[in-house]
Amino acid sequence: MRIGVPKEPTPDQTLVAATPDTVKKLSKLGYEVLVEHGAGEKAAYLDEQYLAAGAQIVDTEAAWQADIVTVLDTPPTNYLDLIRPGALLIARMAPARHPETVDTLVERGITGFAMDTVPRISRAQSMDVLSSMSNVSGYRAVIEAAESFGRLFTGQVTAAGKIPPAKVYVIGVGVAGLAAIGTANSMGAQVSATDVRSETAEQAESVGATFVPIPIAQEKSDDGYAKEMSADQADAATKLYTEQAACHDIVITTANIPGRRSPLLITKEAVAGMAPGSVIVDMAAAGGGNCELTRPGEKVVTENGVTIIGYTDLAGRLPGQSSQLYGQNIVNLFKLITPEKDGKYVLDMEDEVVRGITIAKDGENMFPPPPIKVHAAPAPEKTESVADAAEMARKKAEAAASNKRKRLLWAAVGIVLGLALIAATPKPLIPYYFILMLAIVVGFYVITSVTHSLHTPLMSETNAISGIILVGAILQVGSANPVVSTLSFLAILVASINIFGGFSVTHRMLAMFRGEEK
Ligand code: NAI
Repeated sequence: MRIGVPKEPTPDQTLVAATPDTVKKLSKLGYEVLVEHGAGEKAAYLDEQYLAAGAQIVDTEAAWQADIVTVLDTPPTNYLDLIRPGALLIARMAPARHPETVDTLVERGITGFAMDTVPRISRAQSMDVLSSMSNVSGYRAVIEAAESFGRLFTGQVTAAGKIPPAKVYVIGVGVAGLAAIGTANSMGAQVSATDVRSETAEQAESVGATFVPIPIAQEKSDDGYAKEMSADQADAATKLYTEQAACHDIVITTANIPGRRSPLLITKEAVAGMAPGSVIVDMAAAGGGNCELTRPGEKVVTENGVTIIGYTDLAGRLPGQSSQLYGQNIVNLFKLITPEKDGKYVLDMEDEVVRGITIAKDGENMFPPPPIKVHAAPAPEKTESVADAAEMARKKAEAAASNKRKRLLWAAVGIVLGLALIAATPKPLIPYYFILMLAIVVGFYVITSVTHSLHTPLMSETNAISGIILVGAILQVGSANPVVSTLSFLAILVASINIFGGFSVTHRMLAMFRGEEK
């Protein structure tokens, strides 16, 4: 079968649905790829590169009349006219907002795959174009903020004085929010984040943000998306956002509830409370905006000197990368629907991913698909009777008491063994035990206070200490006392593992920094 990759019909679309890299992958699945002349120019992919990857360069009509047509968004009617009945159209089509698109495809007998309705389940992640685009956009939002912010992101101590790090606040810890947190954090900013879904706290922290919860939390989500807030929750959230906006330099809002207008989070009053020079990037601008003063598609500066960026084409501002990700999502879809790798797709409507994206098929309206529950939240706990609960509480109390008894027993055994050891030790050596105990306490506090990223340099220090142990143990290993020689032998073994293992790990890490290892 032939896959057509037309030049995008909308002049401001900078992306292309296939790149030379993804063309190669589609060809490996047995498809012939027809790329319209100049289709990838805006994303810096030239015709020669497509040719070298195995595509044919064709005119507009040939690209649109292929068996399968892949584009970014629903084509305008004059281009839809070029698609053959029975062909497969793959694009982002927002069928919930544009039911008329589904009707048009049904009338024309075109099969439609809406790439923006890929279900949010782990198996479908590799085809999720919304996630791919949000990921790139979250990154770009930080770059846009940095460009408009008149100061550094990273904190520094310079000869001319101390520079504090920029304070970034991200609202909405979805795909875009997590990408924004990661990017701002890697640029050295101090990042905080909030989401109505409490389960996102751990994710935000894992990419370097401090989570600021809304005082009235929302229940756990069962589908990975937020629900609309109650009036109390909305009031508490608005109060929190106003306070946080006032103490941050940059606010990036990504809050989104599927199928609804973007929630209004940053009021005019909140903007008025921000310091001059602060920046807001409203990623939800296209859906109505999270900030009251956002103008979709524009960058405005308020009277009090706050820049509000409402660009709706953040992914399009990185066209090479976004096209590659979009194209790869399409390749992953073809891998799923081409089980024989023979260049022929198979539509298995029992597959929840295929069913989820099919909006029209053989003249039939297939939208909406049956709902799929995503297991984003743990299954609800079993309801127990009062008697069960009492029994469980009793068992828990018993287990806690038994643990306490065991701990006391071990402590007593430890003390007895310690005293026995001291009694067996020659008197002049006894003060060394106190030094050892002191070293353990100091070492514990030093190691637990060092951040994880500095543990490798810390390990190098430990290597040096192991060197001392090694020298001491080598001096003692020939002792006539078998206990001393055995302990010395064990010390040599363990210290050697520490030294050589440490060097090997450090070597690998340095190689990674130099790019020698993938
Ligand atoms: P997502 O659905 O993965 O994340 C949205 C997050 O907002 C969810 O975690 C949700 O719990 C949270 N949220 C909803 N209401 C909230 C509230 N009142 N307070 C705090 N958090 C709240 O969506 P994704 O993919 O991260 O996209 C985020 C937004 O960025 C969407 O509006 C999307 O349309 C937009 N977007 C904009 C682009 C642009 O060029 N401007 C490009 C790509 C995405």
